[in-house]
Amino acid sequence: MTTALGSPEKILILDFGSQYTQLIARRLRELEVYCEILPYTAKASEIRDAKPAGIILSGGPDSVHRAGSPRPDPSVFKAGVPVLGICYGMQLLVALHGGKVLPAKKREYGHADLERIGDSPLFDGLPRHLQVWMSHGDGAERLDNGFRTLGRTLSAPHAAIADEDKRWYGVQFHPEVAHTPMGAKLLENFARRICRFEKRWTMASLLETQVAAIRAQVGENGKVVCALSGGVDSSVAAALISRAIGSRLHCIFVDTGLLRHGDRDRAERVLGRQLKLNLKVVDASKLFLGRLKGVSDPEKKRKIIGRTFIEVFDKEAKRIKGVEFLAQGTLYPDVIESVSVHGPSAVIKSHHNVGGLPKKMRLKLVEPVRMLFKDEVRRLGRELGICADLLGAHPFPGPGLAIRILGPVEPAALKSLRDADLILREELKAAGWQDKVWQAFVVILPSVRSVGVMGDERTYENTAVLRCVDSRDGMTADWSRLPHELIAKISSRIVSEVKGINRVAYDVSSKPPSTIEWE
Ligand code: XMP
Repeated sequence: MTTALGSPEKILILDFGSQYTQLIARRLRELEVYCEILPYTAKASEIRDAKPAGIILSGGPDSVHRAGSPRPDPSVFKAGVPVLGICYGMQLLVALHGGKVLPAKKREYGHADLERIGDSPLFDGLPRHLQVWMSHGDGAERLDNGFRTLGRTLSAPHAAIADEDKRWYGVQFHPEVAHTPMGAKLLENFARRICRFEKRWTMASLLETQVAAIRAQVGENGKVVCALSGGVDSSVAAALISRAIGSRLHCIFVDTGLLRHGDRDRAERVLGRQLKLNLKVVDASKLFLGRLKGVSDPEKKRKIIGRTFIEVFDKEAKRIKGVEFLAQGTLYPDVIESVSVHGPSAVIKSHHNVGGLPKKMRLKLVEPVRMLFKDEVRRLGRELGICADLLGAHPFPGPGLAIRILGPVEPAALKSLRDADLILREELKAAGWQDKVWQAFVVILPSVRSVGVMGDERTYENTAVLRCVDSRDGMTADWSRLPHELIAKISSRIVSEVKGINRVAYDVSSKPPSTIEWE
């Protein structure tokens, strides 16, 4: 369909600060509807350039009658494309067009039964009664200007509304959350029936468009350099770029001496031999371990590792003549966060990137997966032929094992840690738990020594802590409820097979208030 905005590319979501905004995007993309999020402050030109087939106004914590509360650019309502307001977004639709929004008599939070009144394409294929999830303090009291009621709940007389002529729709509940079991159908109706957005967002089509986009950005002769960590994001980004420009992509894998058993081998096998990336492995372990000698402070370790990494990478990159571009595996949650209406959140995350590379090196960025969520990156990786072994890998921090030894990074502690970590991963895999947990690793406490007994001898050795967590995004986490027998097996193998460890503990802290890593 051609709209006033030209050939539509996506559904645009304007973020008014709801904790669920990302979920709206997730749901739409699961329906193969491409969408992007912009902050509610997006200007008319940004909205026009996005070429939306329709616009969704998200929920938000504010109240429409508070002076200075967020408003979208007026062009949203003049663009001639359908609009769906969710919660705060619906209240905006009402309040900005002659209706009345008041604090609800009763704050509604949780499950509610929505009774539909009349028919509308928004509810096509949905039953007369729907279980929905409410979370609001305000509600529409009076509609005006062509709006009619499509559904009500006990405490919200206008829980779903529409002005079908203008193709404006509003729902007081949250169709994007799992607690509204049929909410995805409603979002699909909006995108496909009301916006008539037909394009299908599949990994195969994405691969094609991204390859073309990379070629267009890098040109006929441009060269790209990439720091491969061997993790999912940088591997998929590199495989994609290599698909577009072949050996003009130069990948550098730095062995910091702080990797786990098998990390370097897997990178060489999968990325080098299977995917045939132009890969250079640099063994800088002596340099890293030398500089870390005697250092206990976690932040000092991170700084030393970060600086050394840049130095090694920069030196290698300079050997390649005429490099203009740097590849990065930036993901969509980081992009959203950087434009979020809340501003970049959580200082605690600032250390998580091998930051500083682009600024120092004055290279232009190529970020081919920056519009994807993690599971989409994995699906794209599959499309590119990357094996499940790499795609299913747990996140691994840039500073590696250095931040899992709670003290100086000595060779003996590194060896104990590597051996114990391998046992943990082997046993989780054998029991089918490796893919159920977000991360699983071992932490060594070199300054804690406790008494034990081995055969007839008394031992006085270190403790290994098992850290296994469930999480969606690493921002919050809970300890994984592994079966006791599994923990028992891991523990007995570690104590009997790993030199220097005579005791194993299981970490039962959640984040917050603890963190996932121990340093
Ligand atoms: P925390 O310990 O902050 O970890 O709860 C959250 C997620 O981030 C990873 N992590 C890091 N990643 N450099 C990284 O690249 C770091 O310094 C770092 N510290 C923590 C951690 O493994 C978890 O996935």
